[in-house]
Amino acid sequence: MADDMKPIRSFLFIPGDSEKKLAKVDTTGADAIILDLEDAVAMENKAVARERTAATLTARPPAQRVCQLWVRINPLDSGMAKDDLAAVIAAAPDGIMLPKANSPANVAALSGWLDVMESDEGLNAGAVKILPLTTETAIAPFHLGAYADAGLTRLYGLTWGAEDLAAALGASTNLGPDGEWAFTYKLVRSLCLMAAHASGVEAVETIYVDFRDSDGLRAACLAARSEGFSGRMAIHPAQVPIINEAFTPSAEEIDHARRVVAAFTENPGSGTVGLDGKMLDVPHLKAAQRVLAQAG
Ligand code: COA
Ligand code: MG
Repeated sequence: MADDMKPIRSFLFIPGDSEKKLAKVDTTGADAIILDLEDAVAMENKAVARERTAATLTARPPAQRVCQLWVRINPLDSGMAKDDLAAVIAAAPDGIMLPKANSPANVAALSGWLDVMESDEGLNAGAVKILPLTTETAIAPFHLGAYADAGLTRLYGLTWGAEDLAAALGASTNLGPDGEWAFTYKLVRSLCLMAAHASGVEAVETIYVDFRDSDGLRAACLAARSEGFSGRMAIHPAQVPIINEAFTPSAEEIDHARRVVAAFTENPGSGTVGLDGKMLDVPHLKAAQRVLAQAG
């Protein structure tokens, strides 16, 4: 079970109807699995996906889990979300991923349902966390700034998606001519990153679609961590070790962070200190503390 104090580095999606893939939940090495009831499951398989997902959870009570087990439900306006929750909450998922969240109001509505369901099922109040996908509809990015003041105590973090947004915008691609995200997707990614930190929760990087490209994934993960993301979603087990490694601070980073913290501790009351000939002030101290928190 991942240490509660450390951010989740890898969230691996497993389609909730795939018996073959569900058989791998305990052996992927991911910090968290997302059992998917939404886009990875065809409409005619929604009911069987609920059953198989619930069975997967039930067979692994929280104290016996080797990793966190989350469930992605269908969107609130799909007419399926309540049935999804009704199928899985008794089995105590660690969290719910909410796709196509339009605003913090959607997360608050889900949280209200969870309040009732947790109480009905005898779970601890607030035990089930929420991770919303905050950029999958055209309106959603305009509400990102509102998460910080929304008082959403179940919020684990914020994440973003580029595939559904492209569909919502009638776009034929979400990439620019250079193969990087097109401007619109860079914009919403940055807004999501800032909204997460403004809210005091984790920023979770989106999926890397080309699951055979290990080098590209590694480089993209290192870039994301250096920008302030603490983990990433995965679609294939081969991505998990790469993501875990990239979102784990290296021995050198940890050593440097310890020395930064020590430099401040040795100079109480001073907002700026010198280390190795470089000026350090409060943002450096915060960055060092963050590295140590990620290291656990
Ligand atoms: N979880 C668990 N096991 C997985 C897996 C996943 N997400 N993706 C692949 N595997 C398994 C395969 O079943 C296969 O098992 P086997 O060796 O016992 O046959 C093995 O890993 C290798 O898989 P591979 O052949 O490389 O890939 P694939 O063509 O079977 O599957 C995808 C490719 C993209 C369809 C698959 O990775 C997948 O379903 N990913 C999740 C998609 C999803 O949930 N999307 C929603 C969020 S965007
Ligand atoms: Mg989707």
